[in-house]
Amino acid sequence: MIDVTGLSFTLADKPILDTVDACLPAGQITALIGPNGAGKSTLLKLIAQQLTASWGRVCLSGCDLRSIKPEELARRMAVVGQQLDVASRVRVRDLVCFGRWPHSRGRLGAEDQAAIADALALFELEDLRDRFLDELSGGQRQRAFIALAYAQDTDWLLLDEPLNNLDLNHARNLMAQLRHLADTRGKSIVIVLHDLNYAISWADHVVALAGGRVAFAGPMAEVATSESLSALYQTPVALREVEGRPIACYHG
Ligand SMILES: Nc1ncnc2c1ncn2[C@@H]1O[C@H](COP(=O)(O)OP(=O)(O)OP(=O)(O)O)[C@@H](O)[C@H]1O
Ligand SMILES: [Mg+2]
Repeated sequence: MIDVTGLSFTLADKPILDTVDACLPAGQITALIGPNGAGKSTLLKLIAQQLTASWGRVCLSGCDLRSIKPEELARRMAVVGQQLDVASRVRVRDLVCFGRWPHSRGRLGAEDQAAIADALALFELEDLRDRFLDELSGGQRQRAFIALAYAQDTDWLLLDEPLNNLDLNHARNLMAQLRHLADTRGKSIVIVLHDLNYAISWADHVVALAGGRVAFAGPMAEVATSESLSALYQTPVALREVEGRPIACYHG
C-alpha cells in the first residue's frame, strides 16, 4: 500500500497540492481523476519521487520513500509521465531495453531478453521494434513508453494519461492488460484518467482531486456517484448501467 500523508507542494509561494491524504491499495487499480490543473500529475510525480514535497510524506509498505535509494525504487516502481520527452533517435527496442536497466545495469541476460520480448509482443510493437521514436505515430510512441515501464517489471506501475492518443481498440486492450496484471500478478497500478468511463469501468479505487485537494477518495463503486462526479467536474454527470457495467453520461 502507498500512504500519502499531509502532502503539500508549493511552487513560487503558490500551493499546487494542499495537505493531500490518500491511500493507494496494493494489488488494485487506482484511478486519479479530476479537472485540468487539479494536481494529478504533480501528485504522481511526488509519489514517484520526481518532485520533492514541501510538507508531508509518501510511504510504501510503511517505509518513507525518501529513505529508499533511487536504484531500489526503480526496481519497485515504474512511471510513465504525461510528457514523453526523449531523444527521438532512439529505436523502439532500445527504449524498451532501458526498462531492464534497474535489473541488468546494461548487461542483458536471458531473463532481460525474455522480458523485452514479452513487452514488445504485449504492446504490439514487434513490427515496429527497429523504428526510431520519431518515425512512430503518437499512439505507437505512447505504447512504446508503456512497454518500457512494463519491462521494468515492478510491483507498482504509475501511468499519467496512458490512453492519450490510443484508439478504441488499443485503449481497451491496455485497460484489460492492466486489469489482468492486477488480478493475476498482484501488480499495483495508479493511473491518471480523463475518460470517466474507463475509470469507473476498470478501476477499483479512486482518488479525485480538485484545486490541489482531495475532493473524494475510496472504492470506486462507493464514492463515484452522479453527485460526486458532477461536483468534481462542475458539469452534470449521470451514471447508467449497460450490460452490467457503469457508464457515465455527460453529453446531455
Ligand atoms: N512548472 C510549473 N510552474 C508553475 N505552475 C505549475 C508548474 N507545473 C504545474 N503547475 C501548476 O500546478 C497545477 C497542477 O498541475 P498538474 O500538472 O499537476 O495538473 P493535472 O491535474 O495533471 O492537469 P491535467 O489534467 O491538465 O494534466 C496547475 O495549476 C499548473 O498550472
Ligand atoms: Mg496532468
